[in-house]
Order: sequence, then structure tokens, then C-alpha cells
Amino acid sequence: MRDAVGNSHGPPEGGHGHSGRLALRSPAADPGERRLVKEGCSMDLEGLVTIITGGASGLGDATARRFAQGGARVVIADLHDEAGQAIATEIGGAFVRTDVTDEAQVKQLVDRAVELHGRLDCMINNAGVLGATGGVGAISGADWSRTLAILLDSVFFGMKHASNAIKAGGRGGSILSTTSVGGIAALAPHAYTTAKHGVVGLTRSVASELAGHRIRVNAVAPGQVATALTVAAYGGAEAMRDFARARSPMGLVVEPEDIAGAFAYLAGPAGRTITGQVLTVDAGLVDCRLPEAYYLNDRLGSAAAESSAPQSAFGDERD
Ligand SMILES: NC(=O)c1ccc[n+]([C@@H]2O[C@H](COP(=O)([O-])OP(=O)(O)OC[C@H]3O[C@@H](n4cnc5c(N)ncnc54)[C@H](O)[C@@H]3O)[C@@H](O)[C@H]2O)c1
Repeated sequence: MRDAVGNSHGPPEGGHGHSGRLALRSPAADPGERRLVKEGCSMDLEGLVTIITGGASGLGDATARRFAQGGARVVIADLHDEAGQAIATEIGGAFVRTDVTDEAQVKQLVDRAVELHGRLDCMINNAGVLGATGGVGAISGADWSRTLAILLDSVFFGMKHASNAIKAGGRGGSILSTTSVGGIAALAPHAYTTAKHGVVGLTRSVASELAGHRIRVNAVAPGQVATALTVAAYGGAEAMRDFARARSPMGLVVEPEDIAGAFAYLAGPAGRTITGQVLTVDAGLVDCRLPEAYYLNDRLGSAAAESSAPQSAFGDERD
């Protein structure tokens, strides 16, 4: 049998205590959109021992459910004991209270997952906050450092201890992290943008080191998703969804389940040759809406429409 890491093994030990048919996390604001992202789940992650940091809320919550639905053995790590424990119980997984800014706690988390399941196959470094906001002249050094500790140091700690555990298993695996469209373009507060760019750099750098161990290292860059991290800034979830939909050239809102699906794709057999990559899941926000590209298209289109002379983008070259 080919398992979710892409290697051949016997059947995984033990059960998961769930049916593999779990409900989505939250009611559908737009049932059509939510139904679309729900389809396509199967037991594609069977037996994959997976840690998800920040799994008590938002994207981590949806990812924990998607992985459990796919047959993974999920270990949720978060500071929110009650929510983390409740989700873990619901999906037949485990919860380990962890502050991801504390390297010793991240090591203990990885050790606990190995103790529970005999190995680690997949680490998802996802915990996060918006962090320091405001102009560069006003951000305190303490707020800057705290933001980078939560968003970037934590990813280093996760990669470090997960890679050692996955190597020890000797069968390869996968390390995934949550960056952001703010890790690709200047779309977020300074410290957040810096940390998320750092996650992209670390992903590429560590991927090249670990490829020889068949440990794949990738990141997902979500666009704007309505979660606890974002909605307050927009005055509520629906206001944020309206804002995001208006900015998507596709007229779509990215849902937590879209991000969960991207993680599942990268962690599972379909992603077995993908490493060092950043998968952007943003309903076209960055590549289709970069202001310069939009401006250029608009200008060139207008110029062509206003001129009565035949237009060629090749100039004299084709005469
Ligand atoms: N929501 C978006 O639009 C969006 C877009 C791009 C990237 N992201 C990224 O997605 C990730 C998940 O965010 P979300 O939107 O689901 O937000 P969220 O607030 O719903 O979830 C974040 C989780 O991280 C946990 N966390 C925070 N600090 C922690 C710490 N020190 N130790 C352990 N856990 C900690 C929180 O308790 C929370 O459960 C973050 O890395 C965020 O930067 C979110």
C-alpha cells in the first residue's frame, strides 16, 4: 500500500476514532462556495502523523478537520486549551498545549507526537497573529521582536525539531508553513510582511537541504480569509468577506477549507515531487491585481481603443 507520504508500508496501526466524514467548521455564508471547497475529500492522508500549530482556530482548525477527514492522525498545538482540546476530541486527535515561541515547548510537542504515534510524517507551522501595526517610526522594538518570534522564530523551531524527528523515521515526510500574500508583496503591516517573507526564504532554503532525506518543505500563502486574526479589522466577518470578494478578480472569497485543501494536496501523495514551493491561494488577489499590472493593461487597452490606426504590439518588427 502506498501511504500518504508516498512510500510503501503496511496498514497503519490503530484507529482514529472517527468516521472520516466530519462537518465543516462554520455555517456557510454562501452555501455554494462552501460546498465547492468541501468536495474532493477522501482518505488521501491515511495514517499521516501530522502536527498542526494554531490548530484551535481559523485556518488551523479547518486544516485539522481536513487532515482527520483524510485519515491523518492529527496533533493540534495551540495556546487555547479549551478550543484545541474540543476540536481534538471531535476529530479523534490529540491536543498539546504549546507556545510556539518557546523552542523547548516545540521540541516537547514533536516528542509527544512521536510518543503517541511512533513517528512524525508532517509538521504544519501555522500559528500566528497580526502583530505590530502602525508606521515604521512608531513600532516599538518589543512589539517588532514579539511579532517575529510568533511568526518566524516559531517556524524555524518547527522545522528544526520536526526535521530531526522525520529524519529519524527514515521514510521521508513533509514540512509545511503558512506564509501569506503579505509574504509575497507589501500588503500587510511591516513586521507581518517581514516575517512572512522570512517564512518563504526559510522554506526555500531548508527545502534544498532536506530534499536528500525526502523531506519536502513547502508553504501556503493565503489571501484574505475571515478568521479571528482578520475580522476585527474589518468590523466583522461578513464585512470582511464583502471586502475580499470585491477585490478578487474572480469575485470569490477564500475560505479556510481552501487553505486546508492546499495543505492536504502538498502533504499527500499528489504533492510527492513538490518541494521548495509557495502555493498562493488568494482568488487572484496578488497576480491578477498587482496595481502596476492592472495600470499597464488598462493604459495599453485604452490607448488601443482611442486610436483609429491599426495596432500592433510588435512595432515594425513584423512589417
Ligand atoms: N486569515 C487570513 O486572512 C490569513 C491570511 C494569510 C495568512 N494567514 C496566516 O494563517 C495562520 C493562521 O491564522 P488564522 O487566520 O487562522 O488566525 P486565527 O487567529 O484564527 O488562528 C491563529 C491561531 O494561532 C494561535 N497562536 C497564536 N500565537 C500562538 C503561540 N505563541 N503559540 C501557539 N499558538 C499560537 C492562536 O491561539 C490561534 O488559535 C497565521 O500564520 C496567519 O498569519 C492568515
